[in-house]
Amino acid sequence: MLTDVCARFGIEFPLLAFSHCRDVVAAVTNAGGLGVLGAVAYTPERLDEELRWIDDHVGGRPYGVDVLVPAKIDESARRAGRGDGGLDTMLAAVPPEHWTFLHDLFAKYDVPLPDLDRARRSATRGAGTQVTPEGATALIDVSLAHPIALIANALGTPPPAMIDRARAAGVPVAALVGTAEHARRQVAAGVDFIVAQGGEAGGHTGEISTLVLVPEVVDAVAPVPVLAAGGIASGRQMAAALALGASGVWCGSVWLTTEEAETPPAVKEKLLAATSRDTVRSRSRTGKPARQLRSAWTDAWEEPDSPAPLGMPLQMIVAEGALRHIDKIAETGHPGARALANYFVGQCVGQLNTIKPTRQVVYDMIEEFAAAVDRLNTITST
Ligand SMILES: Cc1cc2nc3c(=O)[nH]c(=O)nc-3n(C[C@H](O)[C@H](O)[C@H](O)COP(=O)(O)O)c2cc1C
Repeated sequence: MLTDVCARFGIEFPLLAFSHCRDVVAAVTNAGGLGVLGAVAYTPERLDEELRWIDDHVGGRPYGVDVLVPAKIDESARRAGRGDGGLDTMLAAVPPEHWTFLHDLFAKYDVPLPDLDRARRSATRGAGTQVTPEGATALIDVSLAHPIALIANALGTPPPAMIDRARAAGVPVAALVGTAEHARRQVAAGVDFIVAQGGEAGGHTGEISTLVLVPEVVDAVAPVPVLAAGGIASGRQMAAALALGASGVWCGSVWLTTEEAETPPAVKEKLLAATSRDTVRSRSRTGKPARQLRSAWTDAWEEPDSPAPLGMPLQMIVAEGALRHIDKIAETGHPGARALANYFVGQCVGQLNTIKPTRQVVYDMIEEFAAAVDRLNTITST
């Protein structure tokens, strides 16, 4: 295929794949698309290992890295990142009522309590390294030491240091946006590719749907290339995205049920059974609105007596350790833990009904894309 994205990266298909799993990233790249590794869950040391593994498995083909540098985070996290009070500052900023809420929720669903102190400390360390500007900078430096073809950022305009470092390394920068106004701001800041992500997407999203957002963003930033994201899990949806003016697509949810995905097995089962109505945009995991599988967890945070979710990353401290524990217990078949378990996923979860190898997902999408384009050509030529 020939789009500016294919030409720029030397890839066969304008299909970019966001995944936290190195095997998915390598498989998409090897199938002719471009895999992008989500770095947010990794320490710099672990990220370096993952990227070395990818380097060894893609034979020089292009892949990217995605970091999360939120423009707005809770002030206690900023102070902690600057070393002012360290991680204890962040931990102390979580009100006791949030821990009580968790305690009661675990009791209600009969889930054995984790070692809460350990879970809190490890979640605080994670949140502190992942989404503070200092933590993200370390991940950016590690990434740029590898032969990456793209670095992407979500949740705001990348900090100037990220753009400067990427430029110096000759690596293009992409940014995720949910409005045309944000897209213009990103381009003004020096971003090379825009990922226009509609509200049906998994993970942090705005409210505007992909069908409305993509043409708005394409018009707002032309000639900067735009990748369409949100609700794209088939070739027909890919054809629609290119018809809207996108130069390619960026998919996340569709990889969660691949053979290679490290999605916890109990969650994979829930994803395969879910319909497109079974997701919700909730602040209960990270503090920012993120689309995920609706579960007893997301419902509990909506109850009138429940505490309001905190800001990012404080809510991550409350939620991530607890949810990891829930996933572990859910694997034993525990009904309460299975009811609570959830995962970031978009509305296209309703299309995810079988487990397939990643390579097969890519080939099926491309085949269906070609059929959709043929059908449209038939319409115009008759
Ligand atoms: C499990 C999961 C985790 C995600 N985490 C991130 C992330 O850390 N950084 C990011 O830029 N986007 C993240 N996203 C959003 C994806 O990059 C992508 O824009 C989105 O999945 C596209 O919509 P779709 O889910 O309908 O394919 C995540 C998506 C999913 C499904």
